[in-house]
Amino acid sequence: MGSIFLNGQFLPDDQPCISPLDRGFIFGDGVYEVIPAYGGNLFRLEAHLQRLNDSLDAVRIPHPFDPARWAHILQELVRRNEGEDQAVYLQITRGVAPRDHAFPEVEPTVFAMSNPIQPMDEDVKSHGISAIMLDDIRWKYCHIKAIALLPNILLRQQALDADAREAILIRDGEVTEGAASNIFVVSNGTLLTPPRGELLLPGITRDLVLELARSHGIPCKESRLTADDLSKADEIWLTSSTKEILPVTTLDNRPVGSGKPGIMWQTMISHYQACKQAFRDGRIQ
Ligand code: PDD
Repeated sequence: MGSIFLNGQFLPDDQPCISPLDRGFIFGDGVYEVIPAYGGNLFRLEAHLQRLNDSLDAVRIPHPFDPARWAHILQELVRRNEGEDQAVYLQITRGVAPRDHAFPEVEPTVFAMSNPIQPMDEDVKSHGISAIMLDDIRWKYCHIKAIALLPNILLRQQALDADAREAILIRDGEVTEGAASNIFVVSNGTLLTPPRGELLLPGITRDLVLELARSHGIPCKESRLTADDLSKADEIWLTSSTKEILPVTTLDNRPVGSGKPGIMWQTMISHYQACKQAFRDGRIQ
């Protein structure tokens, strides 16, 4: 049995009780984070907590804890769940109140759980994944990590129904991101990713990939991308905290570049794994 954290307490995961009047349940009124822990320690915690606070501020939910208290709670959760590599999911909703759209004056509900991270599939390493392009049907505040994910869920399922792993989203002719990932393109030796803005989530993995590219002298640029840029790309990658860097080798049933995980992906994934190892060994924070 695992442990979860709910409103100040650690509880066995089969015990917790949340009111059906919680605004997360009734309205999807809340925000969340997913933070990987390697070797029992939370990776890029500061950046995740900064993004959490940005999401909370954007939807006007008060911050339940300061970063030091969060670190303590989440570290303890990972310890109780005894896994080396885990993904911590945390969510804060506006709280429990009679159903009314107006903000109530109540305490937010704070929930966190952790689950093992699955290592990347050997098949994905050798063959990559397939994706399809879909119209980005989401709202206009995609930089907020909101728990209301119905459009993302519908888009991901549409991709799965078409035998693809992820949906790559296009809004007004421009590529935004995946249904649950950010996107990178390799074109003529340069790594490109759409610039931050309200139409995509500022991914922590995205920022790390850009950081690694810069520190290893890989040319990279934040640049607007079109569906046509994707069709002509030498490589396409999708990034997230739980999936790391996935090479997309088929897009809309056509091969991307050589149709195999590219050389630039192989270079980047080895820098990424080296960075994780340095973190595990305590050589970097
Ligand atoms: N999702 N864009 C969207 C829409 C996402 O849902 C995610 C991650 C990302 C990548 O962000 P990061 O690198 O910080 O994980 C981009 C998480 C993992 C999820 O919903 O499970």
